Amino acid sequence: MSLSGPQVRRLDERLAARSHGLTPQQYLNHLKSPSGALELEALINAVVVHKTDLFRDEVQLSAFRTQVLVPLVDRARRPLRVWSAGCATGEEVATLLVLLAEAGAEAGSTVLGTDISAPALRQAQGLGFAPEQLRRVPAGTRERYFVQAGARVALAPALRERATFQLHNLMDTPYPAPAGGGGFDVIFCRNVLIYFTVEAFQRTVEVLAGSLAPGGTLVLSSSEPLLQLPTSLRVLRGEQAFFYVRADEAPEGGGAPAFPLERKRDSGSFPTVGAPGPGANGRKGIDAGRPGEAGRGLPSARPPPRVEPASAEADHLFAGVLDGTSSGGTEDVAEKDLRRCLALDPDHAAARYLLGLLLEQGGRPDEACVEYRRALQSLEAGRARAVPFFLNPARLQVACAHATERLEAAGRTG
Ligand SMILES: C[S@@+](CC[C@H](N)C(=O)[O-])C[C@H]1O[C@@H](n2cnc3c(N)ncnc32)[C@H](O)[C@@H]1O
Repeated sequence: MSLSGPQVRRLDERLAARSHGLTPQQYLNHLKSPSGALELEALINAVVVHKTDLFRDEVQLSAFRTQVLVPLVDRARRPLRVWSAGCATGEEVATLLVLLAEAGAEAGSTVLGTDISAPALRQAQGLGFAPEQLRRVPAGTRERYFVQAGARVALAPALRERATFQLHNLMDTPYPAPAGGGGFDVIFCRNVLIYFTVEAFQRTVEVLAGSLAPGGTLVLSSSEPLLQLPTSLRVLRGEQAFFYVRADEAPEGGGAPAFPLERKRDSGSFPTVGAPGPGANGRKGIDAGRPGEAGRGLPSARPPPRVEPASAEADHLFAGVLDGTSSGGTEDVAEKDLRRCLALDPDHAAARYLLGLLLEQGGRPDEACVEYRRALQSLEAGRARAVPFFLNPARLQVACAHATERLEAAGRTG
């Protein structure tokens, strides 16, 4: 984990309180011994952040449904294997099971939830939630897929039995694999990597990419774009979301764009991993007897907005960085390209946010915070344009505010 000075001091205080007078070495030996297993579990739980929700980030989930899941269900014609890595208390697993059912995925489709925290996993296993956690779940979906369970609301048994849970630390290999091998069709690893060091972040992404089936999709949180794309992954861009797709074959030249910007502009829509199908396939799915509902109420493709040449050039540079394709994808070049982009369009809030992430990950928190704040100013003053295939201005504003708070709370910047 990436910890600032004040966070290290807080961790030291917790360790001192928990170690009951043992020296650090004695406490470490205890944690490593069989009798220290419960203490290790409690310590891990005291350090990690479990914040999660049902249908967290509806915009991204909606894009995932149309661009990834529905075409995948249509193409695969077999049960899908999905993994929620860092699933916390199970809300993401429940969300994925509902999305699979709604998309008409085959009945044998499964979702694996893993986490480093045993207490979180114990809670996850029940797939039961407080009623207020269902506020984002549309009424029809709630009636169809959730049942009352005393004071709580539980996922319907037919979906619950598709879930399995496993204790797993993303720092440890080997990674889980689906029964029968072949890799996962989809891996969600949202709001987990943000706490990792740059090295751990990169290594985890590489191993997750290797755990995907060919053509499988990696979903990170929408405010955690990869700034160094492994050669095995391609970016799949949508209007307000992006995903990472495992290339079936190693790319030639180590980083050619999988989905060139021009192709997206020509079509006015976005490329998909497979042929876009109706999704409603009439096969017997998890949600048996309810085929044909996939894609309901989803936003239709809009024509691309007209942009000035300088802005178009700025967007092009930004897209190159997001795709990890900017001249070989090194951090120096990415920073240079983002600065060129910002010289063309100083209110390009998305580029400024990405520059902030790059600087933060590069150990330059003060400079990062300046960029996040400037992006916020552009957004708050209404000067920032909506940029295709990235967070819309409202969501970007939230991401910038969170990033600023994160750095300020860490006490790394004034
Ligand atoms: C903020 S929650 C995210 C939950 C869910 N993915 C979401 O987006 O709503 C982060 C979770 O990652 C887990 N986590 C942190 N470090 C981990 C590691 N090294 N291996 C596995 N899980 C980890 C934490 O225990 C926590 O439950």
